[in-house]
Amino acid sequence: METRHRELLDSMREGGVAPHGDLRRLIADAAGDADIRERAAGLAREATLAVFGDAVFIRGLIECSNHCRNDCLYCGLRAGNSRLDRYRLDPEEILACCGAGYALGFRTFVLQGGEDGFFTDERLAAIVASIRAAHPDCAVTLSFGERSPEGYARLRRAGADRYLLRHETADAEHYARLHPEGMTLASRIGCLRDLKRLGFQTGAGFMVGSPFQSAATLASDVLLLHALQPEMAGIGPFLPHGDTPFGGCPPGDVDLTLFMLSLVRLVLPHALLPATTALGTAREDGRERGILSGANVVMPNLSPARARSRYALYDGKLHEGPEAAENLSALRDRLAAIGRRVVVDRGDYRGRSENR
Ligand code: 5AD
Repeated sequence: METRHRELLDSMREGGVAPHGDLRRLIADAAGDADIRERAAGLAREATLAVFGDAVFIRGLIECSNHCRNDCLYCGLRAGNSRLDRYRLDPEEILACCGAGYALGFRTFVLQGGEDGFFTDERLAAIVASIRAAHPDCAVTLSFGERSPEGYARLRRAGADRYLLRHETADAEHYARLHPEGMTLASRIGCLRDLKRLGFQTGAGFMVGSPFQSAATLASDVLLLHALQPEMAGIGPFLPHGDTPFGGCPPGDVDLTLFMLSLVRLVLPHALLPATTALGTAREDGRERGILSGANVVMPNLSPARARSRYALYDGKLHEGPEAAENLSALRDRLAAIGRRVVVDRGDYRGRSENR
């Protein structure tokens, strides 16, 4: 490993942030250099343990709808995928998932769905309010894409605590190649700023290995996260879905994904970073490797059986084994084997939040 790379990683552990060119070279070289990646993972692990100790937070993921008005080129839920069997959960089903999750020890419910016109601000707000009433000690996280500032405000007033909206890539040109005309990085970042201003614990994030990505766009991702200071960031490998325009593209590299996770941990030491389902899908021990590279959250699937196989963002998406909420004990065992403890806790952000 070159001295300049070692020094850069050490300075990031101390809270420094690198110029774009230095980060780009570090990322480009890390792809082929296990020493750099291991050094980054070690520092990221140290940073995670210093803030969170051995605790790993769990979130119960409820996939509410696979209808989507958007046509993102990478996603299996894209409107243009006519082969997908579409479904939508009703409020009673969602509430029942939360009840089952509560009994299992979940204290955060993540409601996720495509940009489905059925889930208006009004309907979503009512669902959020009913979950908060039934489980006042739980946090509700929403992930339903881009909405108006008024819509976000209404959801916040209804009791939603957090919102996930990955930025997908911090490079506007790259963003345009992954999305249909009309979707822009500027609009996405505008939504993220609205969410922060409204007091949501806000999650951004990106895929690693998406088509047309480069070390330069990944360096921009790290710098955007540093500038935005989101409370959460989701980072997982791109995985192709056969019924999308990117169906023939190669999957993202798991080692590079883990390295990016480590870099993000260094720039966001207090953030809640999941070891994503995509990571677990790409490699059998992906979740554990994610935790050992700086992640501190896992999001097992709490959706009803009829939803799980249909929420097909990419091919082969895990929804069984330790990925399934009802197998929490298997997840506990696997995390215990790497010295971590699954805790029954809302797992709120505890760092200092700006713009809130
Ligand atoms: N591979 C990996 N991740 C994907 N997502 C969507 N499609 C894919 C794919 N093919 C991710 C996006 C989105 C999140 C819900 O899932 O980053 O924000």
